Amino acid sequence: MKKIIIALFVLMGGFGICSIASGAISGSAHDFSHAAWSRGQICLPCHAPHNNSDVDDAPLWNHTVSDAVYELYASPTFTADDITQPGGVSKLCLSCHDGTIAIDAFGGSGDTAGEGSRFIGEGRNVGTDLSNDHPVSFTYDTALVTEDGGLFDPITTPSGVTGSTGSIDADMLFAGRMECASCHDVHNKYDNFRLLKVDNSGSALCLTCHDK
Ligand code: HEC
Ligand code: HEC
Ligand code: HEC
Ligand code: HEC
Repeated sequence: MKKIIIALFVLMGGFGICSIASGAISGSAHDFSHAAWSRGQICLPCHAPHNNSDVDDAPLWNHTVSDAVYELYASPTFTADDITQPGGVSKLCLSCHDGTIAIDAFGGSGDTAGEGSRFIGEGRNVGTDLSNDHPVSFTYDTALVTEDGGLFDPITTPSGVTGSTGSIDADMLFAGRMECASCHDVHNKYDNFRLLKVDNSGSALCLTCHDK
């Protein structure tokens, strides 16, 4: 009887954990473990515990990084004035998503990264012209909010990310900057359409930052 009660307790605890973590990388668009080239692993195409490619400010990065020069976003009403070539985490995304580096160009387990031969599909290829994409790699701070007049303050506004009471700055920005991973969770933690950090029904993601 005691054993059954303990078993039930463990089971209920297990369900409790499941309901907190709503999504996972396993089975998502970024789970390549069933592809022959992935060596049967989920993390390896992007991270390796040893002898990874040592990209600055990147988490144990194991994928060949693009050296493309990108066309940047510009518009007459764009207020931010420090937009740069995609840095940090955006550069990691573009290592597969700009279409210049193969998805299977990674190393690990003592191997150096090869060139690979499989490229991102048409509909997922952002390309090297980023002038028609939401701007990334610029500072989003209180000063920009004051100057722009149409944004919420990232320091004081909640991100609305499931299960978090953190601000936009804490949950979505990288050293105060907008990057691809401001809107997307590469590991599909939230199980939203297109790996988004906030479900965009009713444009809720856009309205997190834009005061419209
Ligand atoms: C498709 C590429 C990709 C795959 C696959 C991937 N990651 Fe990541 N990971 C990234 C990128 C890009 C970042 C940096 C962006 C960020 O932190 O959101 C990152 C950040 C991280 C970080 C540091 C930030 C954090 O979220 O804690 C850890 C730890 C991590 N990944 C672990 C893993 C593990 C473990 C796996 C396999 C189960 C995995 N990743 C699979 C791309 C990937
Ligand atoms: C190792 C290569 C690789 C890296 C690095 C990578 N991706 Fe992907 N990503 C892919 C591939 C391949 C697909 C398409 C999978 C499919 O359609 O089956 C994809 C799909 C996506 C999708 C569409 C998901 C869907 O629901 O169809 C989004 C959004 C995305 N990636 C964003 C990102 C972002 C943001 C980053 C960086 C934080 C990133 N990716 C890093 C390879 C990568
Ligand atoms: C401001 C938020 C935001 C930023 C920043 C952002 N995305 Fe997205 N992305 C979205 C949304 C929203 C969608 C879903 C569009 C839809 O409704 O189909 C999307 C869709 C995608 C898709 C799926 C294909 C498509 O065109 O719909 C890919 C791949 C992708 N993003 C990659 C990236 C990469 C790489 C970066 C950085 C260069 C990036 N995203 C930056 C919000 C963003
Ligand atoms: C994490 C915060 C954040 C999210 C989420 C976000 N944006 Fe933005 N967006 C910004 C910031 C900051 C700027 C820069 C504004 C400026 O400097 O003029 C910007 C710029 C833009 C611009 C260009 C403005 C101009 O004057 O050229 C448009 C249009 C835009 N966003 C639309 C969207 C849409 C649509 C969505 C949802 C798919 C979205 N944004 C999601 C923060 C965000």
